[in-house]
Amino acid sequence: MARAMVLIWACYCVLLGTKCVNCLGVNWGTQASTPLDPKYIVQMLKDNKVKKVKLFDSDHWTVSHFAGTCIEVMLGIPNLNLKEFSNDYDAVEDYIKENVTDHLRDHGGVIIKYIAVGNEPFLKAYKGAFEKTVFPALKNVQKALNKAGLGNKIKATIPQNADVYDSGSQGPSAGDFRTEIRDTMVKISRFLDQNNCPFMVNIYPFLSLYENEDFPIEFAFFDGGGKGVQDQNIQYTNMLDANLDTLSYSLKKAGVNNVKIIVGEIGWPTNGHKQANVKMAEKFYSGLLKKLAMNKGTPLHPGYIEVYLFSLTDENKKSIAPGFFERHWGIFRYDGQPKFPIDFSGEGNGNAKMPVGAKHVKYLSNQWCVLNDDMKNLSRVNTDLDFACSLGDCTSLSYGSTCNKLSERKNVSYAFNMYFQMSQQSVEACDFNGAAKITKKNYSTAECVFPVELLSGARRNLAGITFVVSFFSLLLLF
Ligand SMILES: *[C@@H]1O[C@H](CO)[C@@H](O)[C@H](O)[C@H]1NC(C)=O
Ligand SMILES: *[C@@H]1O[C@H](CO)[C@@H](O)[C@H](O)[C@H]1NC(C)=O
Ligand SMILES: *[C@@H]1O[C@H](CO)[C@@H](O)[C@H](O)[C@H]1NC(C)=O
Ligand SMILES: *[C@@H]1O[C@H](CO)[C@@H](O)[C@H](O)[C@H]1NC(C)=O
Repeated sequence: MARAMVLIWACYCVLLGTKCVNCLGVNWGTQASTPLDPKYIVQMLKDNKVKKVKLFDSDHWTVSHFAGTCIEVMLGIPNLNLKEFSNDYDAVEDYIKENVTDHLRDHGGVIIKYIAVGNEPFLKAYKGAFEKTVFPALKNVQKALNKAGLGNKIKATIPQNADVYDSGSQGPSAGDFRTEIRDTMVKISRFLDQNNCPFMVNIYPFLSLYENEDFPIEFAFFDGGGKGVQDQNIQYTNMLDANLDTLSYSLKKAGVNNVKIIVGEIGWPTNGHKQANVKMAEKFYSGLLKKLAMNKGTPLHPGYIEVYLFSLTDENKKSIAPGFFERHWGIFRYDGQPKFPIDFSGEGNGNAKMPVGAKHVKYLSNQWCVLNDDMKNLSRVNTDLDFACSLGDCTSLSYGSTCNKLSERKNVSYAFNMYFQMSQQSVEACDFNGAAKITKKNYSTAECVFPVELLSGARRNLAGITFVVSFFSLLLLF
């Protein structure tokens, strides 16, 4: 039944001309003070002809918005679920039923092709916490998919950070999986290969630049500048090619020759570091999308590369442990408005234009929280500033960022305002022992925007309706 529905729906999308052939995907994460409502996201993706989206969980309400849209959805299983999914197969079957099978049927159906099991589980920062559970969880998810009759259409995979393999200081041909996780990576790769599942890797030229001041900057981009890497008789001119081919060599050494490689995340942040700005992001995406549109692939694997850009929107609640830039990966701002021209069409003819922003987005009132004018002794607000920044997002104040050149007073105002906005403009969030006031005056400068938070509530309303409905059904019962 489910199988037939998937088939019929795929045919319908082919007829509409909206089926995804060699098309681009985007990641959409929701770690924001007020994530955009999925209905705006669906419209944005349609308006920009983006036909694939990768999510970081499987939130039922969010996923249901993609039913009947012809937009392909990749579901995510967070790392926190890996332990349960590794040792409780029944829980995995329940997950597949509720979060996969049901969606294939309801309201025209959601197109699901991949399930991402965990997210970068081998990151060194996790100190091995997921090393034992991620492979069993992967096997259980594919097994449950197979049992539900979906195994040919829907494949499980694991999004890996690119440093699960490396080539030391040599070229890609020296590539191999990291020694301490090699056994597990070999087993995972062989399983993916045998089950026709893709190998997914996240690749970040920006991070190479961030971590290493001496990284040849042009190698992060695609314009062929800079020295590049000579490997045997191949000249690599960009990091993406070199990285993907390092993976191919690592897989080959694991006896895996046919697994399909997907880039699960790639992108450039626009704030929070001196190399993170709109100009460099525009240059990166322009080169990347042109390269992808030409379907040239890499020296070892010519042809189409399946890619998911990171990311659709900014997320002001992400952990800043990796760096202040972490909250600024969006091609669009927090409110779904575009930051720079980009050519999603994949035609690669240099026709980058401002993408279509989210429409009819609702904001809170046009008001801001700022430092009181009669507050003259600024050392008295130091702790307030720290408090505001610990709960609000002050990453734009950091060195090299858009708001780093503010005066000391405006600095404090920026922090107060972020805390106020992220607290849904609650009056109590703009007090700071009388040091703060609410104003209707827009304190933004040309570079530094003092944002106004989005109105949150659609979801709450929906929960409210559900509550009312269940309440009345209860009444009917009695
Ligand atoms: C479905 O996914 C959501 C969000 O990822 C999760 O909270 C829920 O537990 C899942 N359902 C089952 C039955 O596992
Ligand atoms: C400013 O406030 C600090 C801390 O409350 C205090 O130690 C300092 O004397 C004050 N400076 C002036 C000029 O009032
Ligand atoms: C503003 O705050 C940021 C972050 O706390 C700090 O790096 C910067 O030096 C401050 N600027 C001024 C003028 O105080
Ligand atoms: C505040 O001013 C900035 C910079 O001029 C502008 O981009 C922004 O839209 C303004 N905000 C509102 C809510 O009017």
